[in-house]
Amino acid sequence: MLIKNSRDGFIHPLSSEITAQAAYRDRRAMLKLLASGVAGAAIASWAARDALAQVTRPGKLAVLAGAKSNLPGAVTMEKVTDYKDATSYNNFYEFGTDKGDPAQNAHTLRPTPWTVEVDGLVKKPAKYSLEDLLKLSAQEERVYRLRCVEGWSMVIPWVGYSMSKLIEKVEPLGNAKFVEFISQADPKTMPFVGSRVLDWPYVEGLRIDEALHPLTLLAFGMYGEVLPNQNGAPVRLVVPWKYGFKSGKSLVRIRFTDREPKTAWNKAAANEYGFYSNVNPDVDHPRWSQATERRIGEDGLFAKKRKTLIFNGYEAQVGQLYAGMDLKKNF
Ligand code: MTE
Repeated sequence: MLIKNSRDGFIHPLSSEITAQAAYRDRRAMLKLLASGVAGAAIASWAARDALAQVTRPGKLAVLAGAKSNLPGAVTMEKVTDYKDATSYNNFYEFGTDKGDPAQNAHTLRPTPWTVEVDGLVKKPAKYSLEDLLKLSAQEERVYRLRCVEGWSMVIPWVGYSMSKLIEKVEPLGNAKFVEFISQADPKTMPFVGSRVLDWPYVEGLRIDEALHPLTLLAFGMYGEVLPNQNGAPVRLVVPWKYGFKSGKSLVRIRFTDREPKTAWNKAAANEYGFYSNVNPDVDHPRWSQATERRIGEDGLFAKKRKTLIFNGYEAQVGQLYAGMDLKKNF
């Protein structure tokens, strides 16, 4: 992204029931065996993982085992993207601007120990260790479409819990209207921090009602495992009705404010990346159409493009947040 039926709201089977991928089934079976329900096991697996190459399987996230979701709209019937594609075709500019760079370079990220500071306009500001965050709520598996502004999409089984659980804990003040999500920016472990492509740290933002929406996920895992570094370990945001860049990776700070946050992409090119960035086939990006998308894994000359759906197909769940707003102006 260089600077230059889903509407039905019904519960569908979990990805594990609909994917034909034997490997994925095996992992689920492993997870059941490993299920211990203690955060410690998850953290241990993060540490053990450092020895693994990033494209191989990371450690099992035992604390997430058996996670399910009953949230309307949180699980789609569509075929889940292959794990290999989801972990080797990434945007994570702290590790380079090519899609293959994060998988190559993100082995230097140190996801443990990790803390996330939650502050700003809240009654109870706090620093949460990763262990504390994991313990805050039961995990759910949610199979979300992720639509990137560049015209491609994936379907990923994330594991985490609604961001609202953390927000409730810190008790936002009445004048908190927005939430800022700040990613780690450590030049020692992130080789492209300092490059001029973006203003670091990577910052994203949501209106507080968007952050409180139950679909907004604080994710610790994917495919039943801890997040691979290139996908934003150890904790990231996933906002399924917005373009992928709204989903900040490797978060270290969450700040409540009364002003619309200045986001990294908005600062880089305000005419291209608005604050809202809701997936919208009727509002084109200045350099490309947003009407269709290419599903990663469905490559080839004759692969048909899919029609992009308003709010990425989550209109029934989130449309109400934007009632009366001009989405062409608030893009
Ligand atoms: N978060 C940080 N910190 N840095 C980034 O460069 N890229 C964004 C988003 N979060 C990005 C980020 C973009 S453009 C996309 S499309 C998604 O992460 C990609 O997530 P994925 O690699 O898990 O598919």
